[in-house]
Amino acid sequence: MNYYVMTLFPEMIEDGMHTSIIGRAMAKGLLSLETVNIRDFSVRGDGRIDDYPYGGGAGMVMQAEPVYRAYEALTARIGYRPRLIYLTPQGRVFNQQMAKELAKEQDLIFLCGHYEGIDERVLDEIATDYVSIGDYVLTGGELPSMVMMDSIARMVPGVLSNQESGETESFSGNLLEYPQYSRPEVWHDTAVPPVLMSGHHGNVDRWRRDQSLYRTLRSRPDLLPGVELDKKDRKFLRALLEQGPEFGGYPITEQEQDFLRKLLAI
Ligand code: ADE
Repeated sequence: MNYYVMTLFPEMIEDGMHTSIIGRAMAKGLLSLETVNIRDFSVRGDGRIDDYPYGGGAGMVMQAEPVYRAYEALTARIGYRPRLIYLTPQGRVFNQQMAKELAKEQDLIFLCGHYEGIDERVLDEIATDYVSIGDYVLTGGELPSMVMMDSIARMVPGVLSNQESGETESFSGNLLEYPQYSRPEVWHDTAVPPVLMSGHHGNVDRWRRDQSLYRTLRSRPDLLPGVELDKKDRKFLRALLEQGPEFGGYPITEQEQDFLRKLLAI
């Protein structure tokens, strides 16, 4: 996977992308990263690339021509026009499925806007995808591009070790991850859940699945309708409902009970 990032702040991208798993993948040659400083393509004598918005309003707009020239220079070097992702709160919201799909590409260009955005005309010509990383507004596209690159990289074969890859499946199943514990057995007077010390793999797996179901219900109920529930999952969720707040340390609210009744059609 070759990443190209068009930005006004290349150092921000370079500084953020060479550590940990991503840094290791780059060193191994599984990923590459090149930044393009849009400012180098200014068409004005003063090196500026922004101007006032037509129609008035606050802030400045990045001009079309420097962005276009940066893009032309980059794609001439790459030899073709790969997908170009423009980071914007107006885009489709990024998720794990998109990360998986984008990981199949050979090359990806990320275009980071700043100020009040980029002249629409150049976006119309060069952007293939408009992506948001969530319903909040950041000062620019740099952090969103790094979020996307990190998440896409994990889906590129070889980037994660076998041991690490197992962990990726928890979200693809639409369930949140279960809690993890490590030594010591007791910390701040709290012991590790006994089932994890039992050595009974079947019980451990069931407990983890129940924890995942419970966490998803509490934090992300919107994901539950997309989960394939088997008989044992339904049994656990029904127990949550029927035994109410006293059930084995899994308290739920009345609202969550209503939600479960609908989900289980009871
Ligand atoms: N630029 C500013 N905010 C953003 C967001 N939430 N997602 C993607 N790009 C952005």
